[in-house]
Amino acid sequence: MRQIRIGVFGTGRIGKIHIKNLLNHPQVILKAVSDPFIDKDFLCTLNGTVYKEKDELLQDNEIEAVFICTPSDTHYELIKEALRAKKAVFCEKPIELDLNRILEIKQILKETQGFLQVGFNRRFDANFHQIAKLVSEGEVGDIIQIHIISRDFSPPSKAYVESSGGIFLDMSIHDFDMLAFITKSQVEEIFVSGRNFVTDYDDIDTATMTLHLSNGALAVIENCRQAVYGYDQRLEVFGKKGRVFCENKYENSVTLCNSRNQNRQNPLDFFLERYIDSYKNELDDFITNFCNGKKPSVGIEESIQSTLVALAAAKSLQTKSLVCIDEFKKQYKIGE
Ligand SMILES: NC(=O)c1ccc[n+]([C@@H]2O[C@H](COP(=O)([O-])OP(=O)(O)OC[C@H]3O[C@@H](n4cnc5c(N)ncnc54)[C@H](O)[C@@H]3O)[C@@H](O)[C@H]2O)c1
Repeated sequence: MRQIRIGVFGTGRIGKIHIKNLLNHPQVILKAVSDPFIDKDFLCTLNGTVYKEKDELLQDNEIEAVFICTPSDTHYELIKEALRAKKAVFCEKPIELDLNRILEIKQILKETQGFLQVGFNRRFDANFHQIAKLVSEGEVGDIIQIHIISRDFSPPSKAYVESSGGIFLDMSIHDFDMLAFITKSQVEEIFVSGRNFVTDYDDIDTATMTLHLSNGALAVIENCRQAVYGYDQRLEVFGKKGRVFCENKYENSVTLCNSRNQNRQNPLDFFLERYIDSYKNELDDFITNFCNGKKPSVGIEESIQSTLVALAAAKSLQTKSLVCIDEFKKQYKIGE
């Protein structure tokens, strides 16, 4: 069994999840972690994994791959340096906030013949995977409408939001990618309404979006940074032959019924719990494709497509109008 030595940048919320999965993966040796603000107690729990400064980690020739789990506005430099150092890269979403820089990363990937997987983990969730499969097998027929509800349990900190690129690049980007994953078609137009209901940050915390897809389907995405009853993640595809949907995930499936009402638990709290298996599955996928010399199953092209939609969403919010994705494709000379 081929084993890979891996290094991790960023040991915050998502970094800790990836580190745990890397430590438990039979094909991985987690050689080093790097984070200027690392929690020393956490480092002590990583038996055999050492701390390295950025350059030391990148210059370690034994390390074949790196996981980038740092704030979104730091990804670009790390990806570039890692690809130039001949490391395979897994980078959390969004890989970068500026589309010109994403296109530059695409060019570097071509020059270095590099490997870059992006952390669109929801593709690896069992429910969404099954919905995509049923849709592709024609079980609901031609798609008429898609409805995605994606609401966080509680908002992230102001500092996090400020480095995140805003709600469309940070949060909705998962849903833009989910539309592409499930429908295998692209967003052509988008209209967004957005406001602040639960935070007083500069960025909106709530958005309702209507999207027109290239296969003719209509989609609605609802995002909010706070749902007091738990992490609200639901999806429905409605087609000419039927509908397929999934509800929220719960710790158990018990419902209490009595003379007054019916009761069940709230949904799982957050992405850490709800998507726990998807992070393991995306790691398996990374290892399998990398070890077998295959391309990543989700990478630079998916990042470009979802970023285009995020840019159009921001413009629609600002101009209160329907925005065509083609406008941005032309501006960035994509698909010419
Ligand atoms: N796929 C998902 O479900 C998911 C969920 C949460 C976050 N994310 C993404 O993961 C990234 C990190 O988010 P988070 O919530 O873990 O943030 P976080 O703030 O909890 O953690 C970021 C960590 O990176 C460290 N760091 C900052 N600059 C660094 C650098 N140059 N080198 C090494 N370490 C550095 C910080 O000290 C911190 O420990 C973001 O891009 C976010 O969009 C993805």
